[in-house]
Amino acid sequence: MTDINIAKANIETTGFLDIEIDANIDLFAEIERLKKEKNAIILAHYYQEPDIQDVADFIGDSLGLAQQAEKTNAEIIVFAGVHFMAETAKILNPGKKVLLPDMKAGCSLSDSAPPALFKIFKEKHPDHLVITYINCSAGMKALSDIICTSSNAEKIIESLPKEQKIIFAPDKNLGAYLNKITGRNMLLWNGACMVHEIFSLAKITKLKIRHPKAKVIAHPECEDAVLAVADYIGSTTGLLKYSLASEAEEFIVVTETGILHQMQKSNPAKTFIPAPPNNNCACNDCPHMKLNTLEKLYLCMEYETPEITMDEQLRLAAAKPIERMLHISKQYGL
Ligand code: 13P
Ligand code: SF4
Repeated sequence: MTDINIAKANIETTGFLDIEIDANIDLFAEIERLKKEKNAIILAHYYQEPDIQDVADFIGDSLGLAQQAEKTNAEIIVFAGVHFMAETAKILNPGKKVLLPDMKAGCSLSDSAPPALFKIFKEKHPDHLVITYINCSAGMKALSDIICTSSNAEKIIESLPKEQKIIFAPDKNLGAYLNKITGRNMLLWNGACMVHEIFSLAKITKLKIRHPKAKVIAHPECEDAVLAVADYIGSTTGLLKYSLASEAEEFIVVTETGILHQMQKSNPAKTFIPAPPNNNCACNDCPHMKLNTLEKLYLCMEYETPEITMDEQLRLAAAKPIERMLHISKQYGL
């Protein structure tokens, strides 16, 4: 076997193609060449490292990425994000090749809702509809009535009658925030994101004292006590748009640090301060998102692996609640 065949055979263990790249290769130029040659599109989440964002054809939040995946004409979708995002792209595009640079790029929130356990919970509440945050596995999506993201969750909930009983999974923090702003009493699954859960309220408060004019902008996956001090709460795209529209010059950004790249690029004169977590680090990176690198992105495009594959029955069941979400989002102009 050549090195590449060994690396391919090892993907199940490594998660990616673990082969040496010639140090003289211009990865940016090579990735551009591969995009053209293979009719490939790179969709990247805001939490990806800056180099990956700079080679992407589209950078967005989970809703934007799902919408792009639904409408692309490219033959290959290269997903620079985490597994559930690439899986969603595959669910919407069964005939296309969907590549993920590192198959081990998972999500703690998605892991907090194993479908087998959730099924038992759901069966105990047969009169409830299930709204599930897109940060979940295909197995969870297949058990759901409607999927939502942080940018459309409020509208998705409001599209259901006030008296409709709802289970919301898997994020208890987002669920609690949504209960508050919609006045519902959704039953919450006890999941959370490891990145958004560890922001330090004490350190954010100190930053606020040092930067009294700064606006605190936070993702709704954060805990209630952190959201309580935020001037604006929204999805990653929402946070970026707010920072563009606001007249403030300083922002304390309470989400994963990757978003600061686009904020700084779009607002060079403004200052963005990453909110610190409750540990010894100054920034708060998602270890799953950051498994993808420019090298892994190049290799997965060159050799067209690792690739997302899925059982067709599961795909069909998971597609229904995603399509419902996309349909409702369109109705609300989202
Ligand atoms: P959005 O980009 O949709 O706000 O989601 C944030 C997130 O945590 C994705 O993993
Ligand atoms: Fe999952 Fe949180 Fe990482 Fe997003 S930031 S991929 S929700 S662990």
